[in-house]
Amino acid sequence: MADITRLILAEHEWFREQFAKLDDLQAQTPAGHAALERVWRPLGEKLDLHAYIEEKIFYPQLLKRGVDNPEGETLDAIGDHNDIRGGVRAANAAPIGTDPWWTAVGQTRQANDDHMGEEEREGLSDFRRHAPIGLRESLGRQYSEFMGQHPGTKGLAVTDRDPRRYVEAIKNPATPKPADYSLRIGSLKGQQG
Ligand SMILES: [Fe+2]
Ligand SMILES: [Fe+2]
Repeated sequence: MADITRLILAEHEWFREQFAKLDDLQAQTPAGHAALERVWRPLGEKLDLHAYIEEKIFYPQLLKRGVDNPEGETLDAIGDHNDIRGGVRAANAAPIGTDPWWTAVGQTRQANDDHMGEEEREGLSDFRRHAPIGLRESLGRQYSEFMGQHPGTKGLAVTDRDPRRYVEAIKNPATPKPADYSLRIGSLKGQQG
């Protein structure tokens, strides 16, 4: 049974491998459009899915169980996720293989690398040391279920979040949550059309 901190770590490694594949493709002249697309599309989607599910199930529990500085770790993470989402949006808005596209992919990679290092050193480490294994495994199950049910971001509200409001909404459950958080994992709501 997989502990969520292990699943997140494994996905971080997958991200690094995909960016390395883009290096290999960039070394070929000209880099094939179809080959770039085959690497980038799933990578961009997965970056958004990864941040989405971390925000939905991991950071709320880190805020409860973390000991080191869970609030600071969470504020940093949400801000970083916004940077990564911004990079994915910019890359998706540019024609694949063009200079603006490579620039946006490079910015996404940098934002993601910086974030993964920090998340691994801070939030994940804190959670591994302070949250019970049963909780880590139950979140791991939810994480795997979510990924199994969502091959892409279709139907999910992938959106930037204000870090402070995100933390406040979790600390004060009476505060109305952003509408998309009412979506149950696996819900098909919003996927029509
Ligand atoms: Fe992550
Ligand atoms: Fe993250």
